[in-house]
Amino acid sequence: MPTTVVIGAQWGDEGKGKVVDYLSQKMDFVVRVNGGPNAGHTVINEYGEFKLHLVPAGIFNSKTISIVGNGVAIDPKILLGEIDDLNKKGISCQNLKISDKAHLILPWHILLDELQEKERGANEIGTTKRGIGPVFSDKVGRFGLRAGDFINEKEFSEKLFFSFNQAKNLLGEKLSFSFDEILRKILSQKTYLLSYITQTEFILWEAIARKKNILLEGAQGTLLDVDFGTYPDVTSSTCVAAGASQGSGIPPKEINEVIGVVKAYTTRVGAGEQPFPTEMPKEISSALREKANEYGATTGRPRRCGWLDAFLLKYAAKINGFTSLAVTRLDSLSGFEKLKICFGYRTKEGKPISFEQLSTSRLKEVQPVYLEAPGWQEFPKDCKKLSDLPKEARKYLGKIKELVEVPVRLISLGPEREQMLRV
Ligand code: IMO
Ligand code: MG
Repeated sequence: MPTTVVIGAQWGDEGKGKVVDYLSQKMDFVVRVNGGPNAGHTVINEYGEFKLHLVPAGIFNSKTISIVGNGVAIDPKILLGEIDDLNKKGISCQNLKISDKAHLILPWHILLDELQEKERGANEIGTTKRGIGPVFSDKVGRFGLRAGDFINEKEFSEKLFFSFNQAKNLLGEKLSFSFDEILRKILSQKTYLLSYITQTEFILWEAIARKKNILLEGAQGTLLDVDFGTYPDVTSSTCVAAGASQGSGIPPKEINEVIGVVKAYTTRVGAGEQPFPTEMPKEISSALREKANEYGATTGRPRRCGWLDAFLLKYAAKINGFTSLAVTRLDSLSGFEKLKICFGYRTKEGKPISFEQLSTSRLKEVQPVYLEAPGWQEFPKDCKKLSDLPKEARKYLGKIKELVEVPVRLISLGPEREQMLRV
């Protein structure tokens, strides 16, 4: 059976949690591969409503092994809180495993994230302030602490001391807690986490050998990728499909399917100034935000809303090699008389920009070119097949396929697990 990757095709918040929860019913393993608690994956199923930040969205299936892969940065406090919350709601985390190579977010990473944002001034990114930039900087700088370091307490405390002193140099008085205080706290968290930590890549190799179903759950989205996204307004991990291999230990040749999750329109959340070519005029954007509850699952910030950008989606399809698309929130577009889809850009002077000239870090300089598609009214209550959808909605999906050049195989028509069409 294939190994499948689920990747956000836009700026995050595409509905990956729902898609992973839906697909994981048939999965033996679900692995989170990148990012950290900056992610907010909303899942609504028979157990209730959940906003997962670190635990893979496969956790609701009692037969699935859920793995926090080596590509993820873990905040022990947030992870323990999430496990506790799941347990309280009757979801067992017995099948949860954490890679020994996953990096740990330490209290000073959060302080540094805040400080760096302040220092950027007008160029602030609008990070989630979860310590993501600093923890991944320490990872590639080779100063980081990893979950596996917990195993030897003496070595752990030495590494932590080095990291603490480095942070003290940068933060001075802002680092207000003592080393002993932090060490005590982290070691108490270790007690609860240790039993989950293991070399998860070995488990996955065995799973591949036994032809198990594996799903790799990406966080964030293609346009937030540290290399191919809208740099520097991006996150600090690899969010494209190639990162799923690196973030799990599964060889690239074992990945068979890459599903791109596409919200039927576009949203972006950050400091509020980042380029967003297809942003809707304020009135339409606010109305859609209220209707679709477009507020961040992690920070609660209002998301900016825009029309579907099929030009950027084509880029996402190329860089990820999408084999199919899952289109989410189609229901939220009901009620528009007309919809716009961006299929290309022009320069401010009106000169067409070819696909080869598209630069994701120069989106401030472009103007979108739209086609208009007819809208539809509310969907019938119980849509079970494609032909139950209004013909305008089918046409809209057809346009996505035509412009992005990838077939649409999943369509989400609402927040519940069952509100999904497979075509
Ligand atoms: P999911 O997995 C949407 C955005 C932040 C900010 C930028 C950098 O739920 O789709 P960071 O804290 O990562 O340094 O912030 O990236 N961002 C997200 N936006 N969904 C996410 O995750 C995001 N994770 C980070 O808002 O603009
Ligand atoms: Mg989010």
